[in-house]
Amino acid sequence: RVARLGAVGGDWLDQRTAGGGLVKFLGRKIFPDHWSFMFGEVALYSFVILLVSGTFLTMFFVPSMDEVVYDGVYGPMQGAHMSRAFESTLHLSFEVKGGLLFRQMHHWAALVFMVAIFVHMFRVFFTGAFRKPRELNWLVGFSLMVLGMVAGFSGYSLPDDVLSGNGLRVVDGLMKGIPIVGTYLSMLLFGGEFPGHDIIPRLFTIHILLVPAAILGLIAIHLTLLVLSKHTHYPGPGRTDRNVVGFPVFPVYAAKAGGFFFLVFGIITLISATTAINAVWIYGPYDPSPVSAGSQPDWYMLWTDGGLRLIPGWEFTIFGYVISLNILLPMAIYGGLLAFLALYPFLEAWVTGDDREHHVLDLPYNNPVRTGLGVAWITIYLILALGATNDLIALKLHLSINDLTWLFRVSIFVAPVLVFYITKRLCIAMQRHKRGLALHGVETSKVVRMPNGEMLEIHEPLNEYDRWVLVQHDDFRPLKAGKGVSALRAKATSFFFKDYISPVTPAELREALDHAAHEKHEIDAVTGGDYTVPSAK
Ligand code: HEM
Ligand code: HEM
Repeated sequence: RVARLGAVGGDWLDQRTAGGGLVKFLGRKIFPDHWSFMFGEVALYSFVILLVSGTFLTMFFVPSMDEVVYDGVYGPMQGAHMSRAFESTLHLSFEVKGGLLFRQMHHWAALVFMVAIFVHMFRVFFTGAFRKPRELNWLVGFSLMVLGMVAGFSGYSLPDDVLSGNGLRVVDGLMKGIPIVGTYLSMLLFGGEFPGHDIIPRLFTIHILLVPAAILGLIAIHLTLLVLSKHTHYPGPGRTDRNVVGFPVFPVYAAKAGGFFFLVFGIITLISATTAINAVWIYGPYDPSPVSAGSQPDWYMLWTDGGLRLIPGWEFTIFGYVISLNILLPMAIYGGLLAFLALYPFLEAWVTGDDREHHVLDLPYNNPVRTGLGVAWITIYLILALGATNDLIALKLHLSINDLTWLFRVSIFVAPVLVFYITKRLCIAMQRHKRGLALHGVETSKVVRMPNGEMLEIHEPLNEYDRWVLVQHDDFRPLKAGKGVSALRAKATSFFFKDYISPVTPAELREALDHAAHEKHEIDAVTGGDYTVPSAK
């Protein structure tokens, strides 16, 4: 009866919307299965949690900077002067039933959202999933990552506690550091001299309306493009650039994804119910005078704070205008790091001259330069993030904050180069090792002495599947200078392809297998096919 009701209902809807075709199309979509495809989903599900918990918070949070005197239930704050925004955050935390849980869920979901976005982005980066035809989706994803940071920053600025006020003060400083227009920009944003009375209501609109709407729209585009260009898959037998091997969305993937959503929801709720985050009553209401040690932003904004802490206080004056290099240089670094990410797919395609479609992913070690560049990017990011915690590290490890700052200043130049080189060499070593495995099989440590005195080691051949994965990697020849290839491009290409190890060719593999069969024949003749090594006893 239920099935009949469903069928009748479905038919009714289909006649009015012609949605049946779409359901059939989406239901039959193939989604490949691999653990690394889970991070995009975690980002999606934590965004849903942000929407739900955020909606609850809007019912109680008051985005106003009017001054009030606190007379709520939290004793230590009784009689303190604060903004209504801060007061309502205390009210949410102590008096609204479930309020603290929702605040913590909202904040933890934001942290998980950004972790998932970063890990997802680097999964896409290291496997080359951004290559043609997915460059556009990479850009959509990149915008989602930047919007995620804006959402997080505007969110934790709302409660108007000391930490959020200090974060806003940094934004004020960054703006004022821009020559000529800086002061005007700051006045425009804050509606007068910092902190003014307008910033919290303005951030509120940005935070609960503009940014979530933009994220929602971009996620819709992201997933539509995903369906249109189909998902990639890892190398394996039967997986080519012309097919997708996986499960249909309905029923297999839908059930898995549904279950996974509840898992993410459950884990975020568990963390939020047990682990305090942003306990604003400990920091107190915003007051422009105190800036305590231990004032760190959320993890995804640490890198921006690090840039400001590491840069020396350089500035000079031209025609009466102060040029604050200590503001402009970090901004250039932030811009450079972001631009590198946004443009990487185009940069790589330009360097390699590769305009083919790719649906089979690269294993990261098969592209040593890309992998090296990615790890170098992460290294710079981490050093900036560590720079933002220099006070905490100095306190906990009893080190000098000046020494630490100098250590990070030097490392930011040295470490990425070192890390690039080490990663590249490790990838090449892995490629060589895998190449040996594919051609000669696994060493067994069993050595047979032949009648002529020759020593032969017995190799166990790989199974077809493993060999396929190792052999199936993209072969691509470097561009040659001349014929429309500029000298700069040829240089970049030779940097990219230096030490290039080409994949195993079918002829090479055939020869290796023939050789192995021949050797096995010889060994069998001596050992009678019994390779068991006599024990030492
Ligand atoms: C694929 C969601 C951010 C680039 C996917 C998938 C989902 C997803 C569910 C399919 C599963 C998977 O491959 O993991 C999201 C959400 C995001 C986000 C909800 C943030 C709100 C990003 C970012 C980038 C990116 C920051 C890169 C800068 C891509 C690309 C694919 C993809 C290129 C296709 C991958 C393939 O076919 O192998 N995204 N993503 N996404 N995402 Fe994202
Ligand atoms: C506060 C992040 C979307 C409403 C916050 C806070 C963060 C945050 C980190 C500070 C929480 C705290 O006090 O500890 C995000 C992110 C979002 C998002 C990353 C999306 C990508 C939303 C949406 C809404 C919303 C869609 C409303 C529909 C609020 C409100 C507050 C807040 C009212 C202030 C309440 C408070 O701080 O206690 N947000 N949020 N947020 N968010 Fe969001």
